[in-house]
Amino acid sequence: MQANRPPVRPLILGIETSCDETGVGVVRGTTLLADAVASSVDSHARYGGVVPEVASRAHLEAMVPTVRRALDDAGVRLSDVDAIAVTAGPGLAGALLVGVAAAKAYALAADKPLYGVNHLAAHIAVDTLQHGPLPEPCIALLVSGGHSSLLMVESVTAAITPLGATVDDAAGEAFDKVARLLGLPFPGGPHIDRMAGSGDQAAVAFPRGLTGPRDAAYDFSFSGLKTAVARWVEARQRAGEAVPVADVAASFQEAVVDVLTAKAVRACRESGVGHLLLGGGVAANSRLRAVAETRCAAAGVRLRVPRPGLCTDNGAMVAALGSLLVADGVAPSALDLPADSAMAVTEISC
Ligand code: KG4
Ligand code: ZN
Repeated sequence: MQANRPPVRPLILGIETSCDETGVGVVRGTTLLADAVASSVDSHARYGGVVPEVASRAHLEAMVPTVRRALDDAGVRLSDVDAIAVTAGPGLAGALLVGVAAAKAYALAADKPLYGVNHLAAHIAVDTLQHGPLPEPCIALLVSGGHSSLLMVESVTAAITPLGATVDDAAGEAFDKVARLLGLPFPGGPHIDRMAGSGDQAAVAFPRGLTGPRDAAYDFSFSGLKTAVARWVEARQRAGEAVPVADVAASFQEAVVDVLTAKAVRACRESGVGHLLLGGGVAANSRLRAVAETRCAAAGVRLRVPRPGLCTDNGAMVAALGSLLVADGVAPSALDLPADSAMAVTEISC
């Protein structure tokens, strides 16, 4: 059978449930029509981290109302959409399952093609909603509570290659853990960002992980830094001295930002790529955005950073990637597609 020509500006419903945000977005082409997010973050706060089973239950409760809200906000009906896209991985297995099962049900009920997509590729695709077509190739630095990756993006729908990743904690995880030992609430990233504003980033010389001459140029490590902060704080407390929270927050944040931006700019320089894209929750960090801007300008690299609301997990990013896949004529997934908690970034859709 002759394949129909794909719609140029497809209308896509995107569903995201890989962590603690139930996100449902509606996108037409690269135009954002709706971005409904229900977060269970408050239910995890007292545990100091996301509890998978709590997240799964919250997705189950939030799914139908969030889909309804997104369709209403966009002013469309389910029968209008060209396809449904859903995060198939990577992420929390139980949480992913809720989204994938819901997306299958909607696809089956409304007789729509279904795309199971990669969460990391969606973090890249979301930038098209704010800044238009992606410059390809580009280097992407994705930093959140669950991932820290440096990627070569030749095509966001067809060719993404990992250059490096964290060997231990994710960058956001380090922010959350350090915030906890400084007595700041979960999730700690925004609190450290705010506290750091009134602190001295040179107060403590915290270590820069994996920056030695023999270390992997594009990998990250944050667990040594986290331990160094813990030891420094403990020593102060043992001596009966007050912990200068703003100074520690600023010095810690500087160590993370220094390493992330140095490695990302180095990847651009060494691969001759002139564009850097930031994504993930930590890309909302004000110091990361400022240092990336300065270093990219000095290296002649063009920087693209979506607004903070598009950096954190949401459904619009999944719809944005679905839209690019449909427009590129990529075949939809089978209705029995699995949720894959360890989905490799090289697998953009399944
Ligand atoms: O992308 P995201 O919403 O969810 C995933 O983890 O996938 O990212 C959440 C992470 C948390 O670790 C949070 O502390 C961090 O992003 N974060 C920040 C900031 N805002 C959020 N980290 C540093 N500075 C911020 N302003
Ligand atoms: Zn994410």
